[in-house]
Amino acid sequence: MKKKPFSKIPSVKGVHDVLPGGQAEAFQLVEDTGRKLLEDYGFMEIRIPVFEYTDLFARGIGTATDIVEKEMYTFADRDLKKITLRPEGTASVVRAFIQHNLSHAFPLSKLYYTGPMFRHERPQAGRYRQFHQIGAEVLGITSPTIDAEIISLMARFFDALKISGLEFQINSLGCHQCRPPYRQALKEFLKDRLERLCENCRRRYTKNPMRVLDCRLTGCQKTTQGSPASIDHLCEGCFTHFMEVKNCLNQLKIPFQINERLVRGLDYYVRTAFEVVSTRLGAQNAVAAGGRYDGLVHALGGPDVAGIGFAIGTERVISLLDQTLAGAKPDCFLAVVGDQAKQLSLPALHRLRQEGVRIETDYENSSLKSQMRRADRLGARYVVIIGDDEIARGKVILRDMTTQQQHEMDLETWMPTLIQKLQAG
Ligand code: HAM
Repeated sequence: MKKKPFSKIPSVKGVHDVLPGGQAEAFQLVEDTGRKLLEDYGFMEIRIPVFEYTDLFARGIGTATDIVEKEMYTFADRDLKKITLRPEGTASVVRAFIQHNLSHAFPLSKLYYTGPMFRHERPQAGRYRQFHQIGAEVLGITSPTIDAEIISLMARFFDALKISGLEFQINSLGCHQCRPPYRQALKEFLKDRLERLCENCRRRYTKNPMRVLDCRLTGCQKTTQGSPASIDHLCEGCFTHFMEVKNCLNQLKIPFQINERLVRGLDYYVRTAFEVVSTRLGAQNAVAAGGRYDGLVHALGGPDVAGIGFAIGTERVISLLDQTLAGAKPDCFLAVVGDQAKQLSLPALHRLRQEGVRIETDYENSSLKSQMRRADRLGARYVVIIGDDEIARGKVILRDMTTQQQHEMDLETWMPTLIQKLQAG
């Protein structure tokens, strides 16, 4: 009787596998490029947990943000503690910085992380429920020089990947001193226009009025045209800081645009905020973003030290890569025919791999024809054929897959000969 097939179980909506044969290689390229550059700039890797107590994100990101209000994957664990899958990395890095007293060992901490983040957003092109970030955080530096330096680091990252056509947008959101009067001015402006705002923005008006400026709906964007800008309400300290950031970016020849509507979706930002956007990304146009968050370390129970950082969206970077990447091809494929040959193949593979040769084989006693087909599909440079007939004559066959020519090698010395050939290129 034929077995009834089981039903298939798909991956969760908005969550994707990263497959070999292009995607995984693109992830490796993007992450390796980020890692190398960050380490060149003095950043050290920190590995933060994938989940934290919910309070960390509620307090760190802000209870009136979209992320905390409606996008977090929160659940009670078996001890009934409220746990959240990290929607971003900054809060966790700050938590770790405080918990391990990193300010003693590294008063100026430059930390980076890579890995998955989780947000229950409506999935669409470029927006996933599990996505990846390369993030960097600098703790303990107030100087505007660092703001410009990390923006230039991001610019170098995109240059290294040959991604062009990006726009670097910056804004200053003021500080705890100058923001309240600005929010008041904004609320005054919005007060008579509330009817024309969407329901979400009407709610934001009370809880988080600056987020109204970030609404993507054309109606709301029109309604908020001409609204007061935070950069026109900066206190002296914030004004000087912003001027300095712009001066440094000019010195570094990083082209940037001031975007007065850039307010960011996380509440911890003060002063500099930035986004790197591309018109090639559609609605989800930010490929990287970040800003300054002086005050967050203190708000999470740590010392009063400054902070600034950014996160790059790995999937969005990959969608901007022009090159298609393939997996690494084997140097050689070992085609094995017959029992005696099979006996010889395992130690041969072992020895060649120890010598750094990327070698593949067939494990299933397939026909020579199907082994050759597989070698071809894998893109192997050479095929070595070991058959019982050849062994009897003290030979193996070497086939050059580029020229399609083949010749015999001595059974005793074929391995060093192959290595020499590979080294000669
Ligand atoms: P964010 O703007 O929420 O900032 O995210 C940074 C980047 O992550 C975005 O620009 C985007 O490329 C990518 N991203 C965000 N959500 C998604 C999604 N649902 N699907 C795909 N990609 C996404 C932060 O996370 C801050 N922690 C950045 C930061 C670090 N600020 C200071 N330090």
